[in-house]
Amino acid sequence: MCGIVGYIGNREATPILLSGLKRLEYRGYDSAGLALLEDLPRAVSTNGHSSSLINSTRLVIEKCKGKVTDLETLSARSPHHSTIGIGHTRWATHGIPSDTNSHPHTDQQERLAIIHNGIVENYSHIKDRLLARGHTFRSETDTEVLAHLIGEFYAEKQNLTEAVRLALNEVVGAYGIAVVAADSPNEIVCARKGSPLVIGVGNDNDYFIASDAAAIIAHTRQVIYLSDNEMATVSRSGIKTRTISNIEITKQVEVVEMELEAIEKGGFDHFMLKEIHEQPQTITDAMRGRVIEEEGNIVLGGLQNHLDALRQAKRLIITACGTSFHAGLIGKYMIEQYARVPVEIEYASEFRYRNPIVNDDDVMFGISQSGETADTLAAMREGKRKGALALGIVNVVGSTIARESDGGVYIHAGPEIGVASTKAFTSQLTVLSLLTIMLGRMRHLSVVDGRSMIRELLEVPEKAQSILDDTESKIEEMAQIFKDAANFLYLGRGYNYPVALEGALKLKEISYIHAEGYPAAEMKHGPIALIDENMPVVVVAPQDDVYEKVLSNIQEVRARKGHVIAIATEGDEQIKKLAEQVIFIPQTLPLFTPILSVIPLQLLSYYIATARGCNVDQPRNLAKSVTVE
Ligand code: F6R
Repeated sequence: MCGIVGYIGNREATPILLSGLKRLEYRGYDSAGLALLEDLPRAVSTNGHSSSLINSTRLVIEKCKGKVTDLETLSARSPHHSTIGIGHTRWATHGIPSDTNSHPHTDQQERLAIIHNGIVENYSHIKDRLLARGHTFRSETDTEVLAHLIGEFYAEKQNLTEAVRLALNEVVGAYGIAVVAADSPNEIVCARKGSPLVIGVGNDNDYFIASDAAAIIAHTRQVIYLSDNEMATVSRSGIKTRTISNIEITKQVEVVEMELEAIEKGGFDHFMLKEIHEQPQTITDAMRGRVIEEEGNIVLGGLQNHLDALRQAKRLIITACGTSFHAGLIGKYMIEQYARVPVEIEYASEFRYRNPIVNDDDVMFGISQSGETADTLAAMREGKRKGALALGIVNVVGSTIARESDGGVYIHAGPEIGVASTKAFTSQLTVLSLLTIMLGRMRHLSVVDGRSMIRELLEVPEKAQSILDDTESKIEEMAQIFKDAANFLYLGRGYNYPVALEGALKLKEISYIHAEGYPAAEMKHGPIALIDENMPVVVVAPQDDVYEKVLSNIQEVRARKGHVIAIATEGDEQIKKLAEQVIFIPQTLPLFTPILSVIPLQLLSYYIATARGCNVDQPRNLAKSVTVE
């Protein structure tokens, strides 16, 4: 989703802003822009005969629909020298992707420029008011309305911080913003509510602003995270922070641990492929230091203060979106089977608006890779408000969900740059497996069973590696056979039903092929009507409790001439006779199979998408972190 970068210091701003925007490309966007404050020496007449040079500052805006490289080309055509500026990548919400709708936007007088992530929900009301006062608008965006509103206050107060603050007091909605003004050339004002913002403290009286630390860690690791309803005035001499109700506050400088290599491609063609290949390591990282094999138990540091609540919980509620939701669905199956606690799982977007029943002894888990998904955050807040203990299963350290949760578990997958989630999913499943063992050991699971589950889990990374080693080239060939299919069906049962959902989601996201995931037995209640000789059907069929049933479902597909691609357990001779294509995965306990069975599906989506010439790391219309509802 939209990205923000800002710089103020002594260096040339444009390259810093452009490289920061490139680091944010993975979030998904459709246009990009910069606002620079350029110093212009201007001759003024001093006594009617002689003249001297004074500096005046000009606001320069460069923006266009398309990629950051297009902006770079535009910017190179007439370079501007500036040591202060802001940059943005836009993901359209109000108004189509176009040059005009791109950020930055300016106020009526074109004195100031703003970049904005989020949505001003009451923008049409504010716009009507401003129109009545004679304002004219160039774009269809809510952001331009905010620019004009700040401009009104700026004309009155002649103080940029105060103007931004007063305007934000009128805004309903979510924002991360950065604002510069030509006649306040030594400051950037930024603020956040519901959309992340981090300020980097450089070594040389220079400061950086970003919506994601990835944009600035090449320059500094010292950062300040703004919280909701906080704002900062960033100048070359320091940072002043306050709330938007004007209470001065002091913020801690924190150190970001992220490594630069972790946000680079490391020899792979795409981040997505790199991240698929990282999984043996990231699954290991999710378990590191958490397993006590001898006791058949698990220690999750971020849950230690909540063990009583977890032991006494009558019900767990899991809430999440997209891929994280699929992980949660598998979590429900695992926890109910081994810990015997009822688990409700619900899409966060539904949970937050339907007045759900939440009891004081419920424990809620929000699962989110980014930790910034607006719906998941709002659902967690709603659960908390109604008395539940709210715990996070999150990847991004220091993200909003991580900070607002009562406790939780980091999945430690490292930065996930590819828009389609891969390694975060298997790390979420690994953490949910650990949680299952821990909750099971609090209840009915014996030490012996706990130990044998742990032993199996510890072998999963090596098995994931063998899938990558043994199946990738075959899957690449298969992609050539199926790349032109118009539709795909994905089927699975039990633990592998959510894997079918996830496989279908991955394919549609990055290849734009229509794909549906179904519980295999549901096929005969409708989707079977779609099966003919043009329909590839991916069946996740490891040898587990429902294996024989899945074989019957495969027969049903074959009887209608569908092409079966099976994901099966190594050594399964029977399935070879039934399926057109078989990808084998190693044997493990049924609850851990999704961690393995999803890997061939990730590879299949990747190779089909690349065979179709799609941009897998930045699929159309998608954003990495969905910070609007
Ligand atoms: C799919 C994908 C999305 C996210 C969803 C939730 O590949 O990436 O479906 O899973 O937007 O995002 P997080 O996990 O960041 O809350």
